[in-house]
Amino acid sequence: MAPSLIVAPSILAADFAHLADEARAVEGAADWLHVDVMDAHFVPNLTIGLPVVRSLRKATSLPFDCHLMIDDPRRWAVGYAEAGSYNVTFHAEVADDPAGLARDLRAAGSRAGLAIDRDTPVEPYLELLPHFDTLLIMTIKAGFGGQRFVPELLDKVRTARRHAASGHLELRIEVDGGIDEDSIAASAEAGADAFVAGTSVYRADDPADAVRRLRASAQRAAGRDG
Ligand code: DX5
Ligand code: ZN
Repeated sequence: MAPSLIVAPSILAADFAHLADEARAVEGAADWLHVDVMDAHFVPNLTIGLPVVRSLRKATSLPFDCHLMIDDPRRWAVGYAEAGSYNVTFHAEVADDPAGLARDLRAAGSRAGLAIDRDTPVEPYLELLPHFDTLLIMTIKAGFGGQRFVPELLDKVRTARRHAASGHLELRIEVDGGIDEDSIAASAEAGADAFVAGTSVYRADDPADAVRRLRASAQRAAGRDG
């Protein structure tokens, strides 16, 4: 059975010269490895793309959770699924046919995720959620790691969780940005069940231990043991 809470370290905060080692450093502790793909258009920052994902795929057993912060997901997203990603998430703000792209991702063998940035409301997307496995709710403005968590954005998590529960949807609600031992607890209480953490994992002395502490905090807040 899938673990009930997912902790996904973001390699955006890792040492890019040693990505394979950084991925292996959280194997056994993390559930997914979060891969932030940025194109310098949808967000100002530029990170990594398909060639790096393909190479890294061979270097770790962790499932990849690719978060595409790019202008043209229709052109690129399926490639990340074909590269062996477990979940591929694209942004609602730039998707002309989100349900169609979700279908294509699933056909290519991955789960499908929809992301909404800080200033995007969740309500217009609720009816689309049956097409998706994950909903990623940014808890910062997308683009850079190391920003401060914005607690007001958890209202979107509560709204989405209520909607998913009333519709009996199997939906992971993932929060991304500023996640540490305190904000992970608040996010879990609000109904999130997948947690991305860059800085708080990779800037810790022991990244695997940081993941374990994050998970324990989320579990306490959610009142679960799994
Ligand atoms: C930012 C990325 C995040 C980022 C989180 O746009 O989507 O995944 O890596 O980093 P921290 O945990 O440092 O906020
Ligand atoms: Zn991300």
